[in-house]
Order: sequence, then structure tokens, then C-alpha cells
Amino acid sequence: MNRVVIALFIFAVIATCEGIYWDTIHVEIVNYLDPPSDVIIHCKSGDDDLGIHELPRNGTFGFHFKPAVFTGTLFDCSFVWPLHIEWFDIYVHLRDECDHCTWRIKATGPCMYQDMTKRFDLCYPWNKKKKKKKKLASLV
Ligand SMILES: *[C@@H]1O[C@H](CO)[C@@H](O)[C@H](O)[C@H]1NC(C)=O
Repeated sequence: MNRVVIALFIFAVIATCEGIYWDTIHVEIVNYLDPPSDVIIHCKSGDDDLGIHELPRNGTFGFHFKPAVFTGTLFDCSFVWPLHIEWFDIYVHLRDECDHCTWRIKATGPCMYQDMTKRFDLCYPWNKKKKKKKKLASLV
């Protein structure tokens, strides 16, 4: 009897957590490069490849998904424009509290819109270059 109650309790807790996290997350990316340039964006998670999208200046690319509860969800994107290739984790479950996450892509890195300030003032640097990581790994 106790075991059944405990099992039901655990099930209820899990179901509640899933319910909280199952809200759909909307991500929107705006090309805000200055000087203006097209940017080629390729985003993927462990499960999804969102394909390659070319955005003109002021162009947007959006996608939405339901985050996975226990594994967490991470989408990383590459951004290519003349003489540049950069990477950024555009959605990280533990970092991002937004359910509508809007980003401006600048040469220095992406900036996220914040409800509190009503501005795109939460800016991050680009991810460290993968090549450099490999070089460092080969030195160790
Ligand atoms: C992008 O949008 C801004 C603000 O609406 C505008 O001033 C600018 O001319 C646009 N740039 C291009 C290249 O369309």
C-alpha cells in the first residue's frame, strides 16, 4: 500500500514538472549586422536540424519547440557572413528564462531582448572557436 502511494506521489511530481516545462519556446533571430550584410544561419539541437537559412539585414528566422525536461534542450547555431564564422548556443534551458526569446545578431555577438528593460541589452560573446579548442586539446 505504502509503495503504491509513494509511486503515485513520484508520478504526480514528475507529471507536474513536465507540465511546467512543456510550454512551447519560441526563438526569433534578427540579422542586425552593421555594416549591413547577409548572414547564413544553421541551427541544430541533439534531435533537430533546422536547416540553413540566409537572412538579409533586418531579416528574421524563427523556430519553436517543446523543451525536453530531463535532458534539457540546447540549440546551437553557426553564423556565417563575409570574413566571419561564429557559433552561439541560441537556446540553453538553464540560462534562458524566456518563452519568446528574441535575439539581434551583431558582429560582436548576439543580444537578447529583455522584458524588464524593453531593450536588446542582454549581450553575450560568441562561443569560443571550435578550431582553437581542438588545437588546445592536441597540446594537452
Ligand atoms: C533595417 O531596419 C532599420 C530600422 O527599421 C532601417 O533603418 C534600416 O534601413 C534597415 N536596413 C536595411 C538594410 O534594410
